[in-house]
Amino acid sequence: MKTVLLFGGSGLVGSGIKQLLSDRYRIIAPAHDEVDVIRSDHVTAIIEQIQPNNIIYAVGLASIDRAEQEPELANLLNVKAPALVAKVAASFGIPLLYFSTNAVFDGTKKNRPYKETDKTNPKSGYGKSKLMGEQIVMNISDKNYVVRFIMPYPTTPHKRKNFTWTILDAFKEGKEIYGITDQVINPICVSDIAEAVHALIATGAGGIYHLGATDYVTNIEFIKKLARIFNFNFNLIKEISFEEFFRGKKAPRTKFCWLDTLKIRKKIGNNILHTIDEGILLFKKNLEKDTNS
Ligand SMILES: NC(=O)c1ccc[n+]([C@@H]2O[C@H](COP(=O)([O-])OP(=O)(O)OC[C@H]3O[C@@H](n4cnc5c(N)ncnc54)[C@H](OP(=O)(O)O)[C@@H]3O)[C@@H](O)[C@H]2O)c1
Repeated sequence: MKTVLLFGGSGLVGSGIKQLLSDRYRIIAPAHDEVDVIRSDHVTAIIEQIQPNNIIYAVGLASIDRAEQEPELANLLNVKAPALVAKVAASFGIPLLYFSTNAVFDGTKKNRPYKETDKTNPKSGYGKSKLMGEQIVMNISDKNYVVRFIMPYPTTPHKRKNFTWTILDAFKEGKEIYGITDQVINPICVSDIAEAVHALIATGAGGIYHLGATDYVTNIEFIKKLARIFNFNFNLIKEISFEEFFRGKKAPRTKFCWLDTLKIRKKIGNNILHTIDEGILLFKKNLEKDTNS
């Protein structure tokens, strides 16, 4: 069994990876208070001690508003620490996988999804810090991976607030839900991220990859799909425009967030990533399994 060193194993994405891939790898996921990724001595010691086959960096300041308010922390977690991990990993010849985001693009495209080769132009402090992190990680070794995605939703409840859980909670509480009519997205369930990461690291083909559902929707269509599949009250859904919804937010948001998944599907096959409907159904099935067990 190969060994994977996972930083950020308690996070929204990291915990899913840990849970879903632990039957296929020996996953070592030190807690934040055991290994602080901003500490060079901590990072060097754990990599030297474990000498894993792969390292996954699932740490990050992932809140777009917090990153705008706390640029130093965003720089530490999204740029400096992954640079440090990448340097130490490269000294042992270990490939590093770094998660990134659609926020490296400005979201002004209209006709087709963003490809890996499209010009980046981040608007928010978060997007800028993630782009810097990507560039450093890829400059250190071309064995490394950058995996961008948008709006990951976990398949089991997680302490970190995320879009899908917030919507489901609002439906359950009978609250009005505002769906954005003109934001284009392809959210991904964390189980698809885990499976894609597993297949990708097996290829050994480093580089930048986009992950997401294989189709796309507007934000309000996604909410309607959740309502249909979970059998919630459609009347709670209200329409709102992108401009109106995000007015007054600390950080600029992106309107067109659809990421093209063709490159990764050519590498790992067409059976791993799901459509949005399939992803939500999988999510529902996992929830039912958890409730019954
Ligand atoms: N969530 C999204 O919408 C989204 C979208 C696209 C890309 N991404 C990217 O995916 C990655 C994971 O995001 P996420 O949403 O899973 O983040 P998250 O839920 O906030 O998890 C962050 C993880 O990092 C750990 N951590 C924080 N500071 C640390 C430090 N100094 N040393 C060691 N561990 C530390 C946290 O542990 P503690 O909680 O114990 O501090 C937690 O396990 C990030 O790089 C993010 O940019 C996320």
